[in-house]
Amino acid sequence: MKQSPIAPDLSQSTIVFDSADLLEADKGLRFALPNLGEFVTGFVVRFQGQAYAYVNQCAHVSVELDWNHGDFFTRQKDYLVCATHGAQYRPDNGFCVMGPCKGKSLKTLTLTEQNQKIIINLIPTID
Ligand code: FES
Repeated sequence: MKQSPIAPDLSQSTIVFDSADLLEADKGLRFALPNLGEFVTGFVVRFQGQAYAYVNQCAHVSVELDWNHGDFFTRQKDYLVCATHGAQYRPDNGFCVMGPCKGKSLKTLTLTEQNQKIIINLIPTID
């Protein structure tokens, strides 16, 4: 029997993760952003104790950053890196410090972390 495609849930405005699942400068957690398109994802990472979330699109070309799902950090764990051409972004504000999109920024997703939960707003901040 042929199945119908599942429509994205455009009414969802937040996503919630357990704080314990987001480790310092380790794998990021990915999630869908259906409001931005069928294949657009976001991610959240922890850096210097704080959680930061971004749209998973390089500021150079709109491709996902991670070289394996969830792998966003450089080997030194000091910057987020794009797997395609190596742009590097500050984890704490998404500003590109090196690479073809130097001076541009990732699109930020606002979040709050309280009671061991990370609540991410799925609508990006407009700069
Ligand atoms: S696509 Fe990310 S640096 Fe070129």
